[in-house]
Parts: sequence; structure tokens; C-alpha cells
Amino acid sequence: MSVNAVAQDPPATSGPMVGHTTDSSAMIWMYAPKTSQLEISLKEVSKPNKVSRYSFDPISDPAGVLAGVPYTVTLNGLKPLTSYSYRVSVDGKSEAVHSGTFQTAPVAGKASKFRMAVTSCMKIGQPQTSWQLLLNEKPNLHVTLGDTQYSDTTNPTIQWKHHLRYRAVAEFNAVLRSTPNYAMWDDHDYGPNNSDGTAAGKENSLVGWNQVWANPESGTADTPGAFFKFTWGDVEVFMVDGRYHRSPDNAPDDDKKRMLGDSQFNWLVDGLKNSKAKFKVIASGSTLADSKNDGWRIYTFARHRLFDAIGENKISGVIYMSGDVHRSRVWTHPESDRVGYPLIEVVSSGVANSKTLSYATVDFDTTIDDPSVQVRIVHGDGKTYADKTWKLSELTPKQ
Ligand SMILES: [Fe+2]
Repeated sequence: MSVNAVAQDPPATSGPMVGHTTDSSAMIWMYAPKTSQLEISLKEVSKPNKVSRYSFDPISDPAGVLAGVPYTVTLNGLKPLTSYSYRVSVDGKSEAVHSGTFQTAPVAGKASKFRMAVTSCMKIGQPQTSWQLLLNEKPNLHVTLGDTQYSDTTNPTIQWKHHLRYRAVAEFNAVLRSTPNYAMWDDHDYGPNNSDGTAAGKENSLVGWNQVWANPESGTADTPGAFFKFTWGDVEVFMVDGRYHRSPDNAPDDDKKRMLGDSQFNWLVDGLKNSKAKFKVIASGSTLADSKNDGWRIYTFARHRLFDAIGENKISGVIYMSGDVHRSRVWTHPESDRVGYPLIEVVSSGVANSKTLSYATVDFDTTIDDPSVQVRIVHGDGKTYADKTWKLSELTPKQ
């Protein structure tokens, strides 16, 4: 399908999508024609006779020029680790595809056992079989690390049209409405290929991005960007924005070259230092080493500064996750001595844009004496190509 075909003719409705979910709440997102009345009926799967109803609010000042607007509702007062089903109606009409399910998060800070699915690089017109394989594994949440569409522009109208057409792919739509989703952009859904902080119009990209996903936050009061953190049980995930403040890839690889920008870097390190979580995930589109022209490999100062901050502050249980390169693997970084223990990188890329059609599952278990993290790399043929487990004691600096 050509880019022009994607940009024209977006559907009138899109979603629903489950966004940020906690132990007591869940955000539901839906796109529909302006001035529609959207309602959601919600029930606990184990108590199908008790139905709660909520109304959506439209997002004001939508980015781009579109026929519709995004609507959101936050469902409050939910119970932890409880499965819910829901159905959305638009102006009193409800279609079967406007329904979904999700399970709430474990109590924040409490020991838990759960599965995170990790993807990146969703491309329309490519084989989409891996989304169903992923859903069959019943992930508790889905984290997607960029290239959620390939519009290669900062024009929010064109970006929006791509998101809407991509989300009309049934297999992708099924994931968005059936599990909580958290998203970080990479180059193709932020701006042009391999783009960085110099991209003209990035402010427009950011407005649109925050309206098209249902992440908990975006940036800080002082620092714009798509970055945010969230907690699932006693795992904390830092979704870092490797585009908005990034120095150009071709800048000299010296101590002036930045990947996150100083303010976001300090936010990340402060967050890691203050985190009480057993495992701390740093997630970004950019790989630590797999790309020779668009990743941390050519940001030596920034990479060492991050690794040294983890090492010097003796922060245990840090795991890095990335996407971008259209193949997947799990490994430990050769500069792990700076961190003080094996720095695991989970590269999950090409769920629908690669020969492998691969994704990763990450199973955390903090209910056991020595908490564990198990990483599997699964390809579109349904076979598991890597299956590795680490104990927290192995990811802890020696005193
Ligand atoms: Fe990609």
C-alpha cells in the first residue's frame, strides 16, 4: 500500500484502545466523529450482571485537520488484578469490534507475577500474524517502542491519518482493545527517518502523539517530550524519548552529543535512584548497539554517562528495552562492567515489518525470594528463538 493511499480516507471511528491502567483505574481511548456521544458499559468478567456506565469526553484542540476527534474516559474505582469487559457505543450504536477486555494492574509496589509483551515497527500492508500470536500469550500489558506508523513527517494531519489507517488493521486493533497499551515513539512516528531534536514541527508531533495514545503523562513541567514512567506491581518502567532532545546522529561523537538531553537524563537517573521497584526498565526506540547509524552505539559519551550513573549509584535490577532494527534478540552489553552487573537489552523489533515478524515477552516474578525476569523472543512462525532467565541477585551490584 502506498503512503498516499494510507494518508487518504481514514476510517470514521478508531478504537477503542485500553491505555494507562493502574490497580484501580483504566483509561479507554476512542476516535469518532465530532459531537458524537460516546458511552462505555463495563462489567467484571466474574460478575456479568452488574454493569457500570461512563461517558467519554472529547479531547479539545485536536492536532491536525480531521473529521473526528479523540475521546477518552478514565474508569475509576476498579479492583486490582481483576478482569473487566467493556463495550463502547457511539451515538447509541455499538458494534462488536467496539468491545474489549483488560485486567487491572497488581497493587503498586506489591510483589507480583505478570507478562509484558514488547513490540515495535508496525507497518500496514505487511503480514500481521504476530499480533494474534502475541495475544494468545495473554500478556498483562503491551509496551510498544516506536514506528507505530511510518508517516515520516511532523505534519500532525498526515500522522493522524496513518495512525487511523494502521489501527484499522484487525489484528493490531485486537491488541489495542484487549490489553493495556503504553507507547513511545521512534523516528518514523515522530518525524523523518533517523530524525532528532532539530526536526522542524516536532512540537506539533508531540501534541498529536499525546492525543493518539493514552499514556499517563508526557514530559515534565519544565521539559517537553513523550517520556513518562509507570509502575506495574513492583516493576517500574521508564519510557524515554530518544528523539525530541537528541543530537543529530552525524554530530561528532564527543561529550557534547546527547541522546536524551540533560533534563530528561536527570529525570531518568533521579527516577532510577528513587525507585523502590525490584526491576527498573528503561525503554526506548533506540538500541544500545545494534544500529551503527541511529542508536546509542554512536553516542559514546551519553551511553557511558547512563551506564556510569547506574553503576556509581549502585542501582540494581535495571533492564534496557528497544526496537528499531527489524530483528529481535536478548543479550548483555559488553560494557556491563560500568553498570556493575550484566546489563540486559531486550531488542524487540519488526512485529509487522521484518522477515522474522518478531516480538518479545518479558515475564516478571517478584513473588519469589530471588525475583526473576524471563525474556523470550518469538517469531511469526510461532517458534521461540530465545528464552533466558535472570535472577535479581544476578542484576545487583556487588557491595
Ligand atoms: Fe521500524
